[in-house]
Amino acid sequence: MVTDISTNYTSPAGKDYTIAAGRFAGINPAARVLDMGCGYGESSCNIASEFRARVTSVDISEENIEFAREYAVRKAVSHLITFHIGDIMETNLGGEPFDLILAEGGIFSFIGRRRGLALSRSRLAPRGWLAFSDLIFIADKAPGEVLTIFEDDRFHYETEGSYRQLIKEAGFSLEFTCLVPPSGWDNYYAHMARRLEDQKGFFADRKIKLAFHKEIDVFYRLGGSRYVGYLVCFARAFD
Ligand SMILES: C[S@@+](CC[C@H](N)C(=O)[O-])C[C@H]1O[C@@H](n2cnc3c(N)ncnc32)[C@H](O)[C@@H]1O
Repeated sequence: MVTDISTNYTSPAGKDYTIAAGRFAGINPAARVLDMGCGYGESSCNIASEFRARVTSVDISEENIEFAREYAVRKAVSHLITFHIGDIMETNLGGEPFDLILAEGGIFSFIGRRRGLALSRSRLAPRGWLAFSDLIFIADKAPGEVLTIFEDDRFHYETEGSYRQLIKEAGFSLEFTCLVPPSGWDNYYAHMARRLEDQKGFFADRKIKLAFHKEIDVFYRLGGSRYVGYLVCFARAFD
């Protein structure tokens, strides 16, 4: 069931997880937060709005950052957020470490999980927190159509067990983990369906429209949540 019809998250884990991450990390107005692959800026705005913390937000898409900047103005938190357009692996994030790094919506699968975890580890303050969400496989075998819509041949998804191992090897202790409930997927696809009405920008492209229509069709027709899950992890850097 759709529980958040106006969300701008482009992933199944939404606002509740971002706020929970801020609470675990004890974020306050003196804290520094990094949002890796911030998309439309929903997480950055939620953290800034709830905790009044300073947020650095990076995304490779100029269009997304443009949207996020305007959204932050509408949410009255633009003075708390510094936006950067660029590849997170190459963006100059300044010298100061972060108290919380958000990596929501599968950015680790895009940039490489070991690389993403290592970058996060290197940019965190001692005992700092990492909150990420990413797609995993939860069944031994998934139908070909499910593998195809999530591009498993390109991203080679982890299972919960293999992700736990990567987190440990990267120097983190796992403090909390869960799978996003069905409402998270419904919120995500409701947002995607809304964006498919776009007449300009990324979602206006016919190929993108077709790809998302197909993903939504396959996910609900074949019961995608029997095969894939959206893993949420809050992890803490070892000393
Ligand atoms: C699925 S979206 C998730 C956005 C947001 N975190 C959320 O959960 O709604 C992934 C985002 O990562 C961005 N991205 C992908 N590769 C990136 C990279 N190398 N550096 C920075 N951003 C990247 C994309 O442009 C996109 O906005």
